[in-house]
Amino acid sequence: MAAAVDAGIYAGRRARLLAQLPPGAVAVLQTAPEVTRNADSEYLYRHDSYFYYLTGFTEPEAALVLVAADGDAPARAILFCREKNIEREIWEGYRHGPEAARAAFGFDEAHAIGTLDERMAALLSDAPALYYALGGTLDVRVAGWLSAVRAKARTGVTAPSVAADVLPLLDEMRLIKDAHEQAIMQRAADISAQAHIRAMRAARAGVHEYELEAELLYEFRRNGAQAPAYNAIVAAGANACVLHYSANNAPSRDGDLVLIDAGCELDGYAADITRTFPVNGTFSAPQKRLYELVLAAQEAAFKAIAPGLPYAGAHEAAVRVLAQGMLDLGLLKGELEDIIAAKRYTQFYMHGTGHWLGMDVHDVGQYRDVTQADKPSRALQPGMVVTVEPGIYVRPAEGVPEEYWHIGIRIEDDVLVTADGHTVLSAAAPKTVADIEQLMQQP
Ligand code: GLY
Ligand code: MN
Ligand code: MN
Repeated sequence: MAAAVDAGIYAGRRARLLAQLPPGAVAVLQTAPEVTRNADSEYLYRHDSYFYYLTGFTEPEAALVLVAADGDAPARAILFCREKNIEREIWEGYRHGPEAARAAFGFDEAHAIGTLDERMAALLSDAPALYYALGGTLDVRVAGWLSAVRAKARTGVTAPSVAADVLPLLDEMRLIKDAHEQAIMQRAADISAQAHIRAMRAARAGVHEYELEAELLYEFRRNGAQAPAYNAIVAAGANACVLHYSANNAPSRDGDLVLIDAGCELDGYAADITRTFPVNGTFSAPQKRLYELVLAAQEAAFKAIAPGLPYAGAHEAAVRVLAQGMLDLGLLKGELEDIIAAKRYTQFYMHGTGHWLGMDVHDVGQYRDVTQADKPSRALQPGMVVTVEPGIYVRPAEGVPEEYWHIGIRIEDDVLVTADGHTVLSAAAPKTVADIEQLMQQP
């Protein structure tokens, strides 16, 4: 049996979406397909985030149809899902079937997924508008549904004359995390922070990157997280300068820093945390100088996170601190304002300072206020969650002090915007030089 869900949360989200649709409009969302790995093995199934946001339903082969209220006709939420199948359930496990799913998840109706096409022709008859993920995998099917409706034109039935993208409406909703989502994200961050602590404790010169990855995965799973939210980066020494390093197969060497970017997915929500630490438990002097610089950049970015402040402020604050530090440490020469204006800091800091975080690790939502002509950076609002992830990556180059070569550092936390500022969800992962060294030097 599946665990009970709080159906009211998802019904509330459906109601909020329905309230934004024209009377009688129909919206359709489908969950993600299962993906074959090879032969009859499949990749671990992951539902579609939009579908899950509106249903809480995690079985594959499912779709949601919403019909907006129209005059006396009330709004309807209709689930399409797999039928009960004792034979398949012996092999693959429990499936709700339409009737149990309707009752458990609070839909008005539920039907077998195999009936979707024929029922859509009826549901779209005389509907003024159809909302779905325009340009996605439903396009061909939508064309078939519209043909089926138009085939009934002689009886006076009309097909929707408007097709609209449903995703921007959902992106805006998903961008502001409700209390239920915030609680899950806090727990995902806590589990992930414990995983980073576990990896730090397991570190010693000579340990392989994959051995540390194993510690992370162990901590995720033993706490009930379903999967990593993304492929963990465990990068020792010079590998930390490869931004999307994924091999995780090298041995560490005494004196290396190890950069770990890893977070779990818990109940559909991601954590995204990076810590960088000395594999032998003690930062060298050059490592410490660069580390303190990245930490100061992150502190400056945190100060730029509060309701009403622009999203881009955190990046600008971090860049200013990093660029000044690059001058102070002799990585760059010249004037601070020139370095910032010409983006010369990108020699050592070539990515943004964060992104929205939620169901997807790079979550949905506009970063700019697209309702204004000049599309300024949008103002932060309570309930938004951003990552703050400054870094520095020093590849050998002429004029760059050799003591910094091959050092890569990133510090990444997950930050919830609150009514009076922000909360760092991932604060349990140690971060200061003193805290990291103390943790790693404990017997
Ligand atoms: N782990 C992906 C990122 O930091 O954006
Ligand atoms: Mn990130
Ligand atoms: Mn990350």
